Amino acid sequence: MLPAHPNTERGDVVINLDHQATTPCHPSVIEAMEPWWREQWGNPSSRQHRLGLTAAAAIGSARERLAGSLGIRSEELIFTSGATEANNLALLGHARARALADGGPGHLISVASEHHAVLDPLMRLKEEGFQITLLTPQQDGLIQVEQLEQAIQPNTQLVSVMVANNEIGVIQPIRELSTICSSRGITMHSDAAQAYGHLELQAEELGCALISLSAHKFNGPKGIGALVVRRGTKLQPLQWGGGQEQGLRAGTLPVPLIMGMAAAAEVSLHDLEDRQARLRALRDQLWQGLKRRNPAIRLNGALQPRLAHNLNITVPNVPGSRLHRALRPQLACSSGSACSRGEPSHVLRSIGRTRIEAEGSLRLSLGRDTTTTDIDAAIEAISAAITSLTEK
Ligand SMILES: Cc1ncc(COP(=O)(O)O)c(C=O)c1O
Repeated sequence: MLPAHPNTERGDVVINLDHQATTPCHPSVIEAMEPWWREQWGNPSSRQHRLGLTAAAAIGSARERLAGSLGIRSEELIFTSGATEANNLALLGHARARALADGGPGHLISVASEHHAVLDPLMRLKEEGFQITLLTPQQDGLIQVEQLEQAIQPNTQLVSVMVANNEIGVIQPIRELSTICSSRGITMHSDAAQAYGHLELQAEELGCALISLSAHKFNGPKGIGALVVRRGTKLQPLQWGGGQEQGLRAGTLPVPLIMGMAAAAEVSLHDLEDRQARLRALRDQLWQGLKRRNPAIRLNGALQPRLAHNLNITVPNVPGSRLHRALRPQLACSSGSACSRGEPSHVLRSIGRTRIEAEGSLRLSLGRDTTTTDIDAAIEAISAAITSLTEK
């Protein structure tokens, strides 16, 4: 049976500071999806009757609104099941298309601190004969432009660097990196799963041919995302069927989820600046409060440029498993990515943290409903846990 209230364990209210794993659907997102589950359940590919045509028109409008938010044309947005699929389609789809056009697999560049949804497709491409270079970020988590310049080879076909990191929140200099790529005829992809809805993003300014999005990171539903494919970008599909999405992503479109994604984008972009200012102040309150109470803790990643809703700290000399166990009844947070298979964070390892330090780290990510009371309670809970574990 499901727990009566998912936010409580042993009757205590659990403060949720794990919004980079996922976010709850905003009430207006649920409202926007509702009719498309109940009355308007048509298949947008059914063009012979009203139910299908209504669904197709709704998809067209949602696509237009999402594309408009990024400053691209509607046909440059391909719906996927999320950012994992968008990354796979971008990397496998583009690399294979380039190999076909260029007469063989070439060289691909990415960063050691990327999400597994980028690293794992790249490992797959390595098995297919592509040569992969993973840049090591600086200690602050950022990539320097010179690092990319030095890594580029005559046969480099594709560079993939995320906009904002899912664990340490640092924001990469995408524009500078993409400028180098375009001057050398190299395609640039960016995983913007953690950035869209939290930062003002325009595809033209980013300068990337391929951009991945995920709705559940900005108060939209799980199971829907998109890949931006700028005009003229070569892409092979990963699946074949009914020819939907210009033949690049076959499969019946999930109309309610797409309506939810478009509604979530509107909600997120509407109050973006105010929300970021409020969350930045709360995040800084959290960092300063924790540092005051526990001077030994260390910040992971640069404080600037960083997502306003992310904090990541290492607590030295405290066993990670015990720290997380002690916090669990009061605080939902994580030691790394939700998709890290229980291994110590490869992101923290890539910026020089030891295995033990990575295990004793907390990713604290705020959401649109986080309050100053939550932050005070989180400072109290974390500080009490650290004190009890260091006394033993
Ligand atoms: C940076 C990044 N990329 C990709 C993903 C995967 O996204 P999705 O859950 O939509 O497949 C995530 C989610 O954790 C993420 O943080």
